[in-house]
Amino acid sequence: MCGIVAYVGKKQVYPILMKGLHRLEYRGYDSAGICIYNRNRLNIYKRRGKVADLEEFVSDKDVSGTIGIAHTRWATHGEPNQCNAHPHFSQFADLALIHNGIIENYQTLKKELIKQGRTFYSETDTEVLVQLIDYIRMKSEVSLIDAVHQALSQVVGAYAVAIMSKESPRTLIVARKGSPLVIGIGKDEFLAASDATPIVEYTKDVVYLDEEEIAVLSISPKGKPKMEITNLKNVKKVPLIRKLEMNLSALEKGGYPHFMLKEIYEQPKTIRDSLSGRINIERNTVALSGVIDNKEKFLKARRIIIVGCGTSWHAGLVGEYAIEELARIPVEVEYASEFRYRDPLIYPDDVVIAISQSGETADTLAAVKIAKQRGAFVYGICNVVGSSIARATDSGSYMHAGPEIGVASTKAFTAQVGVLVLLALALAKEKKIINGSRMEQIIKAMYELPGKIEQSLKQNGAIADFAKIFTYSRNFLYLGRGYSYPLALEGALKLKEISYIHAEGYPAAEMKHGPIALIDAEMPVVVIAAQKENYEKILSNIQEVKARQGRIISIVSEGDTEVKALSDFSVEIPQTEAMLMPILACIPLQLLAYHIAVQKGCNVDQPRNLAKSVTVE
Ligand code: M6R
Repeated sequence: MCGIVAYVGKKQVYPILMKGLHRLEYRGYDSAGICIYNRNRLNIYKRRGKVADLEEFVSDKDVSGTIGIAHTRWATHGEPNQCNAHPHFSQFADLALIHNGIIENYQTLKKELIKQGRTFYSETDTEVLVQLIDYIRMKSEVSLIDAVHQALSQVVGAYAVAIMSKESPRTLIVARKGSPLVIGIGKDEFLAASDATPIVEYTKDVVYLDEEEIAVLSISPKGKPKMEITNLKNVKKVPLIRKLEMNLSALEKGGYPHFMLKEIYEQPKTIRDSLSGRINIERNTVALSGVIDNKEKFLKARRIIIVGCGTSWHAGLVGEYAIEELARIPVEVEYASEFRYRDPLIYPDDVVIAISQSGETADTLAAVKIAKQRGAFVYGICNVVGSSIARATDSGSYMHAGPEIGVASTKAFTAQVGVLVLLALALAKEKKIINGSRMEQIIKAMYELPGKIEQSLKQNGAIADFAKIFTYSRNFLYLGRGYSYPLALEGALKLKEISYIHAEGYPAAEMKHGPIALIDAEMPVVVIAAQKENYEKILSNIQEVKARQGRIISIVSEGDTEVKALSDFSVEIPQTEAMLMPILACIPLQLLAYHIAVQKGCNVDQPRNLAKSVTVE
């Protein structure tokens, strides 16, 4: 789970690499490094810490040059220090390589290379790969590209790599398997990166490298660009050039202090974008092309299995409730990491839905592969266009939430819930088990969402005020029932990941089976009580907390009096359909976590030990 960026062309490479690294820093931020060719050699500079630390370190170095590679790391093998940071050199500094992924058989390869006289300086799997390429090249006297082919054929695991060599200082070699890699084709220049964010500013023409493909990107001495793509079996491929739809302003903070706050505030727009063109209030219809095109698969589905991780898994739980309620198809929701390893029963008439913002989560991608191998129809709900999961699934629906940079997922969650409710509605329509007036109610409620999110966001000031009181709390409990239960989990995850306060989410009724023992005057309890269903029950749960001096923060519907009267702090959200309520109720939960973390002085966009896309298991 790292970010890689590379450039070859006519421009000075350093600012391009640095800007790219800043954009990719969400993928890992414990160390960073660059390699630039100048003065007839490969010059590597690397540093423990953030990209800004690297920038400071190289400020007095000669970083001129027109070809280079750069890396921001989230450590897997070896602690995050300068030595383990990428790029890594081959034995005699002839090659430099950056890598995202894990080489699983690196120990075996390393032992063999040591026997052959190679010396290693780092604890990384990456250094093994660059040494292996170099060793093959020297021993077999083959070209660099042939050596890359041979080395990658021996590797077990996942990689996206960029390689440069002292002998060919106008050529970059990039390759991928299991980790993403996009190539940008500019005017007489090439860029390559883990995602399109470092590229979009220079060109909109991109090629997504496929599994086990290797690209040689070179600029001739006369400045002519050439790209050659082959796969590991040495079959040539004609590159498929696509147009990026990404907008540069989506990658900037736009006046907000953090990406997370910007992304929370973007939700009226992102929900509008994810529903747009898919519901029609005049005609009272819903149209999800992935469902229309695969109607038969969905109609004969014996069950739906939803897989995902973290926030995406929470959205999956909302999806379970909505699909079962509207489409009456049994749904199971599984952590992708459990699903992939527990030898699950999967039948050809199962539909597996994989949910992932990044589209790169290793466990979710592995779950997709298993489901496909066993004959299920696999549907993806992803945000990042062209991502590995989006491409590995049989069909799917994009979330259209735009780039999410803050590590804490916010606008992706609401977009995921929106798409899942749409899917439930589309399935109910195809099964002809929803009547026109129910359909109308839900579609109308969907149309009203952006305005109601705006209204919920107006509570920001009040939430910031009472958040101060909880800055020093050590534990939080989040409770909800029905559609609010996944929200309780999501609210707790948001708080713990960015503020480092221990928080747990529970179905409210489960409290008396254990967690109630924790409640005392020191325990803030966030209760999501915004739905009509089981209102009396949630009221009793609140009484139980109050009776033990717990402090209540409640999320209630407009016009509520009873829960409010029992609460220490309340946030009102507009009324909506129960299955859409998570979209409104998660706004105050996101803001609460955000303000507590800011008050505590935490780095909300880049919390410790985390990275935005988890491309390792
Ligand atoms: O990109 P994905 O949706 O597959 O990511 C899954 C989780 O890693 C992610 O939701 C994570 O839990 C977030 N940091 C939560 O805010």
